[in-house]
Amino acid sequence: MSQKKKFCTGALLLLLCWLGGQVLGEISDDFSHCLDFFYNKTPPKGIDAAGYQPICQRYKNLYHFASLYHRQSRAPLYSAYRLGLADGKRPNNTWKYEPQLVFSRASSEMTPFLFATYLDQNVIESQAMSNDYRNSNFTRGHLNPSMHQKTKENRQATFTLTNVVPQRAGSNGGSWNGLENEVLKRFKAYCNGSMHVITGVLPYESEPLRINNRVSVPEYMWSAYCCPSNRSDLPAHMQSFFPTHAAVGRNDPNSGEEIVPINVKAKSSKRGYDVRRMSLETLEGILAQRLAMSVSLFHGQCQ
Ligand SMILES: *[C@@H]1O[C@H](CO)[C@@H](O)[C@H](O)[C@H]1NC(C)=O
Ligand SMILES: *[C@@H]1O[C@H](CO)[C@@H](O)[C@H](O)[C@H]1NC(C)=O
Ligand SMILES: *[C@@H]1O[C@H](CO)[C@@H](O)[C@H](O)[C@H]1NC(C)=O
Ligand SMILES: *[C@@H]1O[C@H](CO)[C@@H](O)[C@H](O)[C@H]1NC(C)=O
Repeated sequence: MSQKKKFCTGALLLLLCWLGGQVLGEISDDFSHCLDFFYNKTPPKGIDAAGYQPICQRYKNLYHFASLYHRQSRAPLYSAYRLGLADGKRPNNTWKYEPQLVFSRASSEMTPFLFATYLDQNVIESQAMSNDYRNSNFTRGHLNPSMHQKTKENRQATFTLTNVVPQRAGSNGGSWNGLENEVLKRFKAYCNGSMHVITGVLPYESEPLRINNRVSVPEYMWSAYCCPSNRSDLPAHMQSFFPTHAAVGRNDPNSGEEIVPINVKAKSSKRGYDVRRMSLETLEGILAQRLAMSVSLFHGQCQ
């Protein structure tokens, strides 16, 4: 059975699969338009492509980052981007969706829900909607956060539902936000040139947890960066953070502690949402075990 067929026997409308099948190989079946966002223009290796859709995130006629979307989860596995220092404030969060997920000949430009002339059942089936998050007790957690992007358009482009996952407020507004700030500071202070970041999710091992019966909730968030050249004045105590470093964050206080231990002394609103810093190799080991794929995030381990 082909990968395409295997996937199409799943949850999606037959019509969508038929349309997708007709034009397979034409548009957005790979990351060729947005390879610049990956270190050495090389997307992560080792991810079994079945069921995943690469998205070059295009907004106002420019590519801003890349995401690997998992159709059945209606959520991304990861977003990959170059970190940039914001030249302004957090923009208006006008949420957008991705027409190319409905059928591959559709526009490859993300579209604000506001301007949607029609949102028929095929659009709703193909991806997460703002409604899925309403009353869900989960926030829209950015994988590529707007605070890691430079221009106003770069930042606005992060407000697309194919770049977010259901994240608990205790993680999104707490320890995970702390990690995002830390990575930004490290980039500013010690990285000489580009920093490539890949941030993604680990689904639950057994039955997926979904909001609104549609969008998969991650059990953990993970993130790794690659800054191939550090500044020459990098202090000795920072050397282990270059050229790569990684982290895994809890999104469920009830998960076991084998991957990320809980700090019982944390404030109650943040307790159980800890983030564990680790080497790239340790993260890749966790991904190998939990996703059952031997993933290499950065070409040549960013050396
Ligand atoms: C946000 O967008 C709305 C509608 O486009 C506009 O009225 C408002 O002024 C914007 N706010 C900011 C801070 O840009
Ligand atoms: C959200 O949390 C509230 C308060 O804990 C609970 O009553 C409600 O059922 C939850 N909603 C969902 C969709 O889980
Ligand atoms: C940054 O890299 C450039 C080019 O390799 C080099 O000339 C410069 O000295 C570096 N700056 C620092 C602060 O390391
Ligand atoms: C990275 O930092 C170390 C000092 O911690 C320095 O010896 C090395 O030259 C730096 N690398 C580059 C490319 O500047």
